[in-house]
Amino acid sequence: MKILIIGSGAREYSIALSLLNDIRLSQLYFCPGNGATNELGENIDIKGNDEIVAFCINNNISLVIIGPEAPLISGLSNKLRENNIRVFGPSKEAAMLEGSKIFMKNILKKYNINTARFISGNNKDELYQFIDNLNDQKVVLKADGLCAGKGVIIANKDEAKDILDDMLSGISFGEAGKNVVIEECLNGFELSIFAICDGDDFIILPSAQDHKRLLDDDIGPNTGGMGAYSPTPLCSDKLLNDIKQEIIKPTLDALKEEGAEFSGVLFCGIMVVDNKPYVLEFNVRFGDPECEVILPLLKTPLLDIINASIDKKIKNFKYEILDKSCVGVVVASKNYPFKTSPKEEIKYSKVNFLSNQLSHISFAGVSNIDGKLYANGGRVFVAVGIGDNIIEAKQNAYQLIENISFQDMQFRSDIANKALK
Ligand code: AMP
Ligand code: GLY
Repeated sequence: MKILIIGSGAREYSIALSLLNDIRLSQLYFCPGNGATNELGENIDIKGNDEIVAFCINNNISLVIIGPEAPLISGLSNKLRENNIRVFGPSKEAAMLEGSKIFMKNILKKYNINTARFISGNNKDELYQFIDNLNDQKVVLKADGLCAGKGVIIANKDEAKDILDDMLSGISFGEAGKNVVIEECLNGFELSIFAICDGDDFIILPSAQDHKRLLDDDIGPNTGGMGAYSPTPLCSDKLLNDIKQEIIKPTLDALKEEGAEFSGVLFCGIMVVDNKPYVLEFNVRFGDPECEVILPLLKTPLLDIINASIDKKIKNFKYEILDKSCVGVVVASKNYPFKTSPKEEIKYSKVNFLSNQLSHISFAGVSNIDGKLYANGGRVFVAVGIGDNIIEAKQNAYQLIENISFQDMQFRSDIANKALK
């Protein structure tokens, strides 16, 4: 079968790696892909949902896997389904869980699902009053719309109103910030939980923990994620059960009730406070870099899991996970996450990586010029190490980085340390 993967990051590269050994796969396409994905399949350069649908029809594509949120929110999966093309990814109605923080918080409130206390909208007086009435000194301000992971600001109460003014006026986040969610700041630890859903039922993939800050010890600016590991010992069986019963199940039921049935990957960003899980956010796709450390742990073929979701067969679906651990270290260009960086040649010996099925590099911000790989800026690749435990997996990941380099690359040296404490 021919499969089209939408996206261009290390997440999409890892999805491809998970499919490559499947004998059912005959050809893999990426739209748009990156400078390394064309070694795994063929990059196609088309834009627009109608054009993608036409490509699928003309090329007999059997399955489309949508990696990032933007095409989901734009309704690509609706368009594909209308044309009887199999697609893994929720409808645009269900994708509003990520597309609008106000929509998401209102669902949680209406169906009594645990989340931080909040107010939403654009009425300055009401928003100011909510800030004044908070007991805590910290306030969380969130732009309603998509801001490429940058729309959340945690501020002190005395600066919050100025920040809010800049959001409402459009200075900070343009249209996306003219409506906001303001909420109380929760103090606990964060978990990323991924549920594969078919509208009614779900299965849980191994838990993961992301590292959002740029620098070691969780300091510096927020990023898209500088590394992840899985599974995390921070997620006990009891906690996971609570997350399933108190968060995921009621959310799926709620969306069905609202006429926005959820099929695909539901990514739950959870804050655990005094052993109780609260929803920080939902994403409607695999996390990046979490995806890169979860997929290598699947013993059951990814394609079987995707098919069970699309065919509404998750309820009785049995899947197996390897008894291994996985650590992914993101390597980024010099100016990430602030601005673009100069193109730099990536020096590495392919032999070191391709010979080892388990530990590997997943490429993201790279281009291929005359057969050489260049770092384009942003997050460039993820070194993914696998081992019998987190210590071994971490060693393998950092060992990979010793064999690949480009000018001024930066990465954290403490990925997965939280699991080792
Ligand atoms: P979000 O995009 O909503 O997940 O927010 C991005 C990050 O901001 C989260 O991963 C948390 O680290 C932090 N965050 C969001 N909401 C809260 C909150 N209510 N309390 C504390 N931290 C938060
Ligand atoms: N790792 C967080 C995200 O994918 O948004």
